Amino acid sequence: MSRIADNAPLKQLDEWDDFVATRYRQDKSEEEFRNYKADANPTVTEFYRQNHAYQTLDFVKAKKAEYCALNRGKKSIWEMAEYLNTLVDDSDPDTDLTQIEHLLQTAEAIRKDGHPRWFVLTGFLHDLGKVLCLYGEPQWAVVGDTFPAGCGYSDQIVFPEFFAANPDSKIPAYQTKYGIYEPNCGLDKVHLSFGHDEYIFQATRKYLPEEAQYMLRYHSFYAAHRHDAYCYLMNEQDERMFEWVRKFNPYDLYSKGRERPKTQDILPYYEGLVSEFFPDKIDW
Ligand SMILES: [Fe+2]
Ligand SMILES: [Fe+2]
Repeated sequence: MSRIADNAPLKQLDEWDDFVATRYRQDKSEEEFRNYKADANPTVTEFYRQNHAYQTLDFVKAKKAEYCALNRGKKSIWEMAEYLNTLVDDSDPDTDLTQIEHLLQTAEAIRKDGHPRWFVLTGFLHDLGKVLCLYGEPQWAVVGDTFPAGCGYSDQIVFPEFFAANPDSKIPAYQTKYGIYEPNCGLDKVHLSFGHDEYIFQATRKYLPEEAQYMLRYHSFYAAHRHDAYCYLMNEQDERMFEWVRKFNPYDLYSKGRERPKTQDILPYYEGLVSEFFPDKIDW
């Protein structure tokens, strides 16, 4: 079956990450930026078509009920990282980073800038939620820029035209500015499209400072942290904490081009860091 027809249009999950990194390339002109479609190959475009069409409010609520109770068993952070590394797609082992290498690369860039230990740890954890793919979730329910379901779609989201195929777009109560939400109700009450951000936030929230929780939960919410969309759903705490989400984003986007991390050399540091914040095993 062709990739376009099934639920895995991306050759590798990282194709979405690469698209976002290209979209937010630092030296882009306004015009290049608006013309984002030039950066999206057919598989990325098809991925967004599926993501925007299928992430309904009901879907988001169902997936949160399924995963956020954390009843899939106990595993250590390291077991989860090893598990994520088994995500084998069409990546080229000579040039493409493994999932753990992306996590370490992000964390190392944060560490080099002298940020606190919990910030470095957050870099190491941030994409562990992509194990959702190994649980059998389609790509469109694991990655992709997140957006609120149950209220009007911002035109700051890429490929906004694909929302026309989302059944929620036919429900008038979901298409007003606030939709089912109250003004400035706080993002905790808002159902963002489901994906790896929400899952890693829920699994680790008990163990991390609030700044880290925000970074994990909203790192793919580009419409908000890059374009200030949906500020009318945020409360003051969200506004304050989004400073940290913004601080985190460049490390996620731009650490990829750097040299391959020397995993064996730095592993002892990360083992110490993980055990400083987490017990041996946590609920997933
Ligand atoms: Fe991510
Ligand atoms: Fe990432």
